[in-house]
Amino acid sequence: MNKNQEVLVAEYDSATSGFTKIYEVKDINYAPYILISFYKENDINDTPFRTKLSEWFKGRGIPSWRDKLDLLLHRLNITAPYELLDKAFGLSLSDQYWLKPFDSDISYDDINFFDNDFDYAEFMEASLSINSGQIINETSLKTPNNTTDGMLKKAWIIDNGIRYLLKGGYKNETLQPFNEVLASEICKRLGFNYVEYTIDTYKDIVVSKCPCFITKDTELITCYQIRNNMERHNSLEDYEEYIKKLEDNGIENAREKVENMYILDYIIMNEDRHLNNFGIIRDVNTLKWIDVAPIFDNGQSLNIEYYDEEEVHITGNGRLFYEVKSFDEIIKVVKNIKRIDVSKLDGIVEWFENLLQQYQHLTGYSDRRIHKLCVLLNSQINKLKELQKK
Ligand SMILES: Nc1ncnc2c1ncn2[C@@H]1O[C@H](COP(=O)(O)OP(=O)(O)O)[C@@H](O)[C@H]1O
Ligand SMILES: [Mg+2]
Repeated sequence: MNKNQEVLVAEYDSATSGFTKIYEVKDINYAPYILISFYKENDINDTPFRTKLSEWFKGRGIPSWRDKLDLLLHRLNITAPYELLDKAFGLSLSDQYWLKPFDSDISYDDINFFDNDFDYAEFMEASLSINSGQIINETSLKTPNNTTDGMLKKAWIIDNGIRYLLKGGYKNETLQPFNEVLASEICKRLGFNYVEYTIDTYKDIVVSKCPCFITKDTELITCYQIRNNMERHNSLEDYEEYIKKLEDNGIENAREKVENMYILDYIIMNEDRHLNNFGIIRDVNTLKWIDVAPIFDNGQSLNIEYYDEEEVHITGNGRLFYEVKSFDEIIKVVKNIKRIDVSKLDGIVEWFENLLQQYQHLTGYSDRRIHKLCVLLNSQINKLKELQKK
């Protein structure tokens, strides 16, 4: 199902989380975008399509590369993430797809997690806490936490009726949440469309907190899905094709909006702009492409992988489509860098320093580390100003 729309009727094997037979395709247009190009009207059980359908569904589960996955599985009392897919119809807070048991009269309105509350406390503890002897009970597995992507430990929670995603750092690193908040501040000042991240703490662990940017009427389609059936060339051509695809589908100012993301990545030196970290928002009722998705997932930045207390190494590279490239190369995709008012960033380095200092008692960052992060940020802003003079 896609919200209330029937997409196809199929036999699902929960032991493998795969689809073993497709009986009928009701409306392929409402299928997940990534599947449509594999569909053959005259052979609905064609293996590539059925395989892709199974892969797509399994891919909704928590990925095998999730930080501390073993611990999470132990606390959830399961052996593999795909076991969770059966617990809540495969529903997510990033789109509206779900599995409706055949012959059941259950409706989307009764089960979707946008309207219907879910217990999150136990999952949050299982996912984020360092010491937890708790093994969670079955009812706590009916949550959208069964279908989150990404490497970082995370949990959906409800606060005052709003759905928020909490994200921790990777292993012992805690800079990701601060980088997210810095990115939000930069985007706010420069007028970019972004997801607002704030700092929160859970049991003395620093996490970032951002509201869900999807509603009951929308879905996120990542660039990975959009590019999946397109031929690869070099990163610049792949980028241009992507912009054209967005424009052809009626997204206004698509180029500027995607450029804005690369401008942010330049300023904070984001190393992780892979194709699932950006995309578009589609209306699930009309299938109209509404807009470029607000900028999200900016934590892997400010030379995070290469931090050295003794020296400043600037070794990180950014990503432009399928290629890893220097930030100085990637920023060249921006047609008119002068359109950005960099003076809006005045004082942001001090602002960031202050933010990091406020949480020093929890993060244990040395003054030296904070200083180095600020030097890096300052130097990127200055480099951007230099680029504008050319
Ligand atoms: N605020 C949000 N609203 C809806 N979906 C989100 C939101 N933030 C992230 N997602 C979805 O969750 C996935 C994982 O989140 P992300 O921030 O990319 O985590 P990670 O840093 O672990 O990669 C994203 O690719 C996106 O599909
Ligand atoms: Mg991500």
